[in-house]
Amino acid sequence: MAKIDVDFLGVKFKNPTVVASGVLGVTGALLKRVVDEFGAGGVTCKSIWFQGHEGHPNPTIICSDHWMLNAVGLPDAGIEKAKEELTWYKENCDGPLIASIVAGTAADFGEIAEEITKINPDIIEVNISCPNVEDELGKPFACDVDDAANVTRQVKKRTNLPVVMKLSPNVANIGQIAKSVVDAGADAICAINTVGPGMAIDIGTGQPILHNKVGGVSGYGIKPIAVKCIFDIAKSVNVPIIGTGGVFTGEDAIELMMAGATLVGIGTAVYYRGKDVFGKVAKEMEDWMDKNGVSDINEIVGKSHKL
Ligand code: DHB
Repeated sequence: MAKIDVDFLGVKFKNPTVVASGVLGVTGALLKRVVDEFGAGGVTCKSIWFQGHEGHPNPTIICSDHWMLNAVGLPDAGIEKAKEELTWYKENCDGPLIASIVAGTAADFGEIAEEITKINPDIIEVNISCPNVEDELGKPFACDVDDAANVTRQVKKRTNLPVVMKLSPNVANIGQIAKSVVDAGADAICAINTVGPGMAIDIGTGQPILHNKVGGVSGYGIKPIAVKCIFDIAKSVNVPIIGTGGVFTGEDAIELMMAGATLVGIGTAVYYRGKDVFGKVAKEMEDWMDKNGVSDINEIVGKSHKL
């Protein structure tokens, strides 16, 4: 029997799949189903704002056979509602909980980290890489070494939980950003957030389709970008990585793990392969391991870096 459970920052996951932030992570009840029914090793909730956040008007998501484009605008009911939902989750589900947080300033990131620590999630993930809120925030914090490090320091000051910084692929040198957040105290990295932003135009009207005009690109085609970013991060820093981007199958997950990921986030594939994609991917990983004589999934983490 292939061993597919992994340890990430001292937290045990029954398999390496986690639901990526923003997908299915809305209520405690749905998060519980992601673990208990859909087969994920753990969950990431959607990004929590301190005060709540309106999000963008529709249309917010477009799918094609080859890509998804979204500018949902990080809608959220705020910290009090999130604490309620996540407390319920923790009381009713054993699966590890990664609490994703978002804010408009480094100080606000610290504030919300302190507040969410009170309900004791296993890990805090800091979303500094959403590509769609530039009007409010300027460029994402993850696109600047100093901004990324500053947010990391503010969060680390206000919590004793492990902190994962979620990075953007839309930079010249992601290894350098990874090094700056690790030097500032990050315990782990999640990569990648969506690519772009991109745009789609309705050629009937000649107008951009998304209300926000631009949105983050995800889906199968971004996998090579994710693999390269994870590879660069693993070369640059010595902390565990949640790899995410374009994972649809067990073999995709194995590829990201060979690049250096210990956990694998799945988001867009839910729309293409169904909500039980996590269990399907975990089973496909086991099948691949059996066929290839790998008894413990941990053996393949970072394999592409070894001669
Ligand atoms: C949104 C947030 C993200 O982090 C992302 O990658 C894409 C879209 C959003 O809510 O608009």
